[in-house]
Amino acid sequence: MINYSVDRDGIATISWDMPGRSMNVLNNDSIPAFADAIQKAISDDAVKGAIITSGKPDFIAGADLEMLQGWSGAEEMFNNGMELQLMFRSIEKSGKPFVAAINGTALGGGFEICLACHHRIAADNPKAKIGLPEVKVGLLPGGGGTQRLPRLIGIQAALPLLLEGKHLSPEKALKAGAINAVVPAEELLTAAKSWLMNAKPEDAVQPWDNKRFRIPGGAPMSATGMMTFTAGNAMLREKTHGNYPAALNIMSCVYEGCCVDIDSGLRIETRYFVKTCMSPEAKNMIRSLFFGIGNANKLASRPKDVEKQSYSKVGVLGAGMMGAGIAYSSAMAGIEVVLIDRDQGAAEKGKAYSEALLKKAVSRKRMSEEKAEQVLGLITPTTDYALLDSAEMVIEAVFESREIKADVTAKSEAVLPETAIFASNTSTLPITGLAEASKRPANFIGLHFFSPVDKMPLVEIICGKETSKETLARSMDYVKAIRKTPIVVNDSRGFYTSRVFATYVSEGISLLAEGVSPALIENAGKMAGMPVGPLALADEVSLDLMYKISNQTKADLGDKYVSSPSEPVVNKMVEDLKRVGKRESKGFYEYPEDGKKHLWKDLPAHFPVLPEAEQPSVEDVIKRLIYIQSVETARCMEENVVTSAEDADVGSILGWGFAPFRGGSISQIHTVGVDNFVSECDVMAQKYGARFTPPQMLRDMAAKGETFYAA
Ligand code: NAI
Repeated sequence: MINYSVDRDGIATISWDMPGRSMNVLNNDSIPAFADAIQKAISDDAVKGAIITSGKPDFIAGADLEMLQGWSGAEEMFNNGMELQLMFRSIEKSGKPFVAAINGTALGGGFEICLACHHRIAADNPKAKIGLPEVKVGLLPGGGGTQRLPRLIGIQAALPLLLEGKHLSPEKALKAGAINAVVPAEELLTAAKSWLMNAKPEDAVQPWDNKRFRIPGGAPMSATGMMTFTAGNAMLREKTHGNYPAALNIMSCVYEGCCVDIDSGLRIETRYFVKTCMSPEAKNMIRSLFFGIGNANKLASRPKDVEKQSYSKVGVLGAGMMGAGIAYSSAMAGIEVVLIDRDQGAAEKGKAYSEALLKKAVSRKRMSEEKAEQVLGLITPTTDYALLDSAEMVIEAVFESREIKADVTAKSEAVLPETAIFASNTSTLPITGLAEASKRPANFIGLHFFSPVDKMPLVEIICGKETSKETLARSMDYVKAIRKTPIVVNDSRGFYTSRVFATYVSEGISLLAEGVSPALIENAGKMAGMPVGPLALADEVSLDLMYKISNQTKADLGDKYVSSPSEPVVNKMVEDLKRVGKRESKGFYEYPEDGKKHLWKDLPAHFPVLPEAEQPSVEDVIKRLIYIQSVETARCMEENVVTSAEDADVGSILGWGFAPFRGGSISQIHTVGVDNFVSECDVMAQKYGARFTPPQMLRDMAAKGETFYAA
């Protein structure tokens, strides 16, 4: 677990190498073993100094989140947290020099160990990541990170690293002053030993243990400190709307902790650490952002008994916005792409999209020219279906028309091997219907990408009635190969993500129809934790598309169609006011060429606004905008469109940006409690309409006391 050895010169090497794991982590096994090794080095008079390093390609990835979840309550958390702080403190105050030999990635608790060492040397491994990413899962560094980093590099430089959880390469960490040296990997241990052999007694004292220590750049109460915190707090508020306690608590730790000595600072940090861990936001973020996305990336729900499929060649039909992005993502994964469009020019244009992205990566030094050329070389733009002959999969992203999709399906299947998968990227057409055009409906599936494909991590996999489990498993292998996150859903109108996302937009428009002030609606959307307000999103999606979809749905469903109060607003915007959205620079917003977009000033003239006194509270508007999405997600679960709470949560966050601190649209119900959610929805259904009526599945769960998650 932790190897300990002492050489002839009295240099101890404490090397982390946890058995059966690819990465070292701080957990209930490794922490006591590490503490023992530290004590051995400190108490052995023959030991002059110690190197802390790792026997794996990476240093230490951080604390095991399963361990945190296992801690029973605030008291246990506080005691364990303080024990860790004191162990790190014993390194600092041992009187012997300790050096961290950072051979690879050192994150979270791993980097906090480095910060507790008197000196930090990293190998020049450009892939290594160094940083404190805890905030990304709703936590704060609880091993002294909020205290040592500001004392080492100054408050102003430390705050963004702590608040954004950014990783640094060794080179950048050196520039930031977070480490002391970068050396070639093969010289790492020699350099560490050499520093120890030359260390003077004062080198074994941390700067903050020196009586005359001053925080670089000034303490919180200094003039610069005051400015940093005043501006920093305002910026944080603007970005998070107070929804992320971890970020706020990090600010408090740095502010309060840097006003006092390090030992008091560490106690302050542990208190805030406990408070943060106990928050529903941390629980939600760990559940969905760490475990949920982690399980999806590991293909936890992949049908088990299907052999893994590797991909060497895929076909992409339609080289427009989506097809061009899918081609790029596939080529980036080393897969050969046949990119087909109606004419050679359109196909070439699709390839040019990849060329532009690759050029940008080269100019920003994120990729070498050779690699860019190699990726681009994998894409063959053409009109010739014969080139698909040995492809393992074809993904069509042609126009959203049944006839055109049927035509390209037939053309592809004429040349494809029997075993090849045919996938459609349709956003609205049911997969089962499209599969009717296929000779091999068992091999037909939906792969719904999001725009822009190169940036959006989610792929919604849609199984049609006839889709086989082999096709599903092999499609999941493709999504993993292109390094995206899959969720699996069943066929239905709008599938899962578009269907629930649409309820957010349409609830915003319904509020407008009721006379709620447009600014209140938009601000409430952002304060709810959504990336954009619902009216701005309607403009992005375009009102004429919404108009077209609702007319189509009306025609398809006949008597069963349930209209929404948002519909008359959309009809009026499209038919009378001819304002279709961002595409034509006029919708609910105006898009001046020389300035920022702003709400259309004539909106109130067409959609009268209630007097101030009759406006709802911002909390009520937030609740409507969030609950409508959760209740629709529950309906999707009841109808078996989405089959696991985890997929629903991951899909909501990665697919349409559902507020991450809520853990996703199902975690939202879990957080308030199924029974509370049901009774609140009943009240809302009375007040605002039947769309809030909770599905029977939720009533049954509430009656039986069932929950979506164990914790
Ligand atoms: P687009 O209009 O940018 O591209 C479509 C491309 O298909 C054009 O280059 C066109 O020349 C080509 N094409 C049309 N008929 C063809 C044929 N018979 N053979 C070969 N190529 C043909 O459209 P976009 O936005 O890329 O959408 C494509 C598909 O992806 C649609 O089914 C759409 O519903 C779906 N989708 C779109 C999303 C979006 O955000 N735009 C998101 C998810 C899915």
